[in-house]
Amino acid sequence: MERTLVLLKPDAVQRDLVGEILARLERKGLKIAGLKMMRLSDELLNEHYSHLVGRPFFPEVKSFMQLTPVVALCLEGIDSVNTVRAICGITKAREAAPGTIRGEFAMSVQANLIHCSDSLETAQVEVPRFFKPEELFTYSDALEGYLY
Ligand code: PPS
Repeated sequence: MERTLVLLKPDAVQRDLVGEILARLERKGLKIAGLKMMRLSDELLNEHYSHLVGRPFFPEVKSFMQLTPVVALCLEGIDSVNTVRAICGITKAREAAPGTIRGEFAMSVQANLIHCSDSLETAQVEVPRFFKPEELFTYSDALEGYLY
């Protein structure tokens, strides 16, 4: 079982697409291990996008991510990192495949609705960056014996 980080970016929040995106991820079979709304600080964004420091669009990425609170999600499932990336579609949303979240709902490389961890190694750093251990839950077998 693998965990991955997803951020629903300010364009998803502002355009009221949080439910739509969550529904697609849940319907696929991914389990929500953590879920919260948060305003991203300069400090957190500097850390999260440290690989983009020096890129011309770095200041814009930061200010964009601070326009509204974001929804932070930790999703759990077999091969969840790759599964979530496939459902989201590629970063350049205009070119994202039809049927993916970005392919269906976005046109921009910046306002592309979602951030998702790009590898298992990244996920293992990103999940604890956004979630304390006590904010993450495992409950897949909680209903065993209650359904019938
Ligand atoms: S890159 O170009 O390979 O370093 O891009 P990537 O690692 O996918 O991360 C890019 C993140 O920055 C956001 N962003 C842009 N990327 C490229 N070009 C422009 N102009 C740009 N503006 C913003 C992009 O949405 C990626 O954000 P995340 O949160 O990682 O999806």
